[in-house]
Amino acid sequence: SGQLRGVVALDGPSGTGKSTVARQLAVGYTARYLDTGAMYRAATLAVLRAEAPLDDPAAVTEVVTAADLRVGTDPSHPTVALDGEDVSAEIRGPEVTGAVSAVSAVPTVRTRLVGHQRSLIREALSTVGGVVVEGRDIGTEVVPDAGLKVFLTASVEVRARRRSVQDSAAGRRATLTATQADVERRDTLDSTRAVAPLRAAPDAVEVDTSDLDVSGVLSRLRELVEQRELLA
Ligand code: DC
Repeated sequence: SGQLRGVVALDGPSGTGKSTVARQLAVGYTARYLDTGAMYRAATLAVLRAEAPLDDPAAVTEVVTAADLRVGTDPSHPTVALDGEDVSAEIRGPEVTGAVSAVSAVPTVRTRLVGHQRSLIREALSTVGGVVVEGRDIGTEVVPDAGLKVFLTASVEVRARRRSVQDSAAGRRATLTATQADVERRDTLDSTRAVAPLRAAPDAVEVDTSDLDVSGVLSRLRELVEQRELLA
């Protein structure tokens, strides 16, 4: 029942290849690209820098509310800035990754970031007419009337292996066992939180990427976009 043509909602846990395919899909259709995980990560970095206690929702909210968070939606050059500083690399580090589930579980943080996301989506629709949005709750909460909702999955082993490859490429070292444990821990936290848990929308198309490479996932997504005549 997707009515908002121009919006592709891409949800799923980490390690499904979501970011890569979302960006490439947007590039191919000259659509914008919105990485909502990057927004939760930048908000988390603000909290860590302010040394606010992660278990104090009021303190966390205060920091996130005061933070100047800017997200660029050009898929060939996505950017994230916190208080004027480019933090795209730092938000992928282990400190942020370890704290982001706690910060993104705070309801007032979500309300604030979802409002920001919706305004970026509106802007993309009014300028280029299309946007690929990736996250955990895009099809269920942020844009429930998206023209296409896709829920990407993959086995936990495959996702941990993909995360390890990304970590090594970025110069971060961790054993596969530790990475898999971290992937499982975040899955549990993200899918059991009270507000906007990670969940497929009832009308989402599920795509299992365990046995597909990036180009395989991309062609499946292009097929779905073209069937629905969503993006120009
Ligand atoms: O996609 P990612 O790994 O960069 O996301 C980082 C964290 O942010 C993830 O653990 C869950 C949270 N997140 C969320 O709660 N809602 C979203 N729409 C996107 C991410």
